[in-house]
Amino acid sequence: MLVVVHSNYEAMSKKAAEIVASRIRRKPNLVLGLATGSTPLGLYKELIRLHKNDGLDFSKVVTFNLDEYVGLAPEHDQSYHYFMWENLFKHINVNPSNIHVPQGMFGDLKISPFETDPKIEQFCTWYEDEIKKYGGVDIQILGIGGNGHIAFNEPGSSIGSRTRIKTLTEKTVKDNARFFKSKDEVPRYAITMGIGTIMESKELLLLANSAGKADAVKSAVEGSITAMCPASVLQLHRKAILVADKEAASKLASEFVTYG
Ligand code: F6R
Repeated sequence: MLVVVHSNYEAMSKKAAEIVASRIRRKPNLVLGLATGSTPLGLYKELIRLHKNDGLDFSKVVTFNLDEYVGLAPEHDQSYHYFMWENLFKHINVNPSNIHVPQGMFGDLKISPFETDPKIEQFCTWYEDEIKKYGGVDIQILGIGGNGHIAFNEPGSSIGSRTRIKTLTEKTVKDNARFFKSKDEVPRYAITMGIGTIMESKELLLLANSAGKADAVKSAVEGSITAMCPASVLQLHRKAILVADKEAASKLASEFVTYG
């Protein structure tokens, strides 16, 4: 994994945007994998700036988001649909028909660890097929959870997993409660691309900032490859880049690091 460390969040966000922009300039119909959460906000801000000031053109770009909460309507202000429109889509010239964010609303669901509800199964198969139809994701943006999760693939997720419904761990529910009025309002399930789906992306761009991510980053980059730290699987990818700020990278052995 190429590890690039910047002195602060703004600098790492600019670097990440530069990487994404260069891929769009090289391939205008880039298939761009997107993430939500606090980490990529700076990257999205910079992409918007590049669109407005430098004419970065998203008109042919196709997007696929990693995940969505189950049970939140697209207009709910904590849904990932809403997040993406507010923080990126409405500010750039992406064609709405090229946008893909997993569906979160399925009506009444029978949730069982042994059998997937057919409505979910049908959607997840469609999502995987849609990614394939566009030739696969060219570059996938990822954040990392404090427990090492990528997308909503929590510790213990199968390394070969595909898009599916996942139960969120208590740690993730607690971490994400900061965005809701109370912990009880945080959805317990999400639809997420699988680790196998993510690993098929041609390039991976993992972003991490703040001291709260330092342990997860160390395990992902220097730890053993294990389902207990889903991000560690990136060590097996042919083209994975970690762009971090110095706090998130503070526990890495410095000899592995490039300073940006
Ligand atoms: C969101 C996602 C999650 C986040 C992770 C870090 O689409 O896939 O895995 O990337 O939970 O979240 P933040 O950036 O809020 O620390």
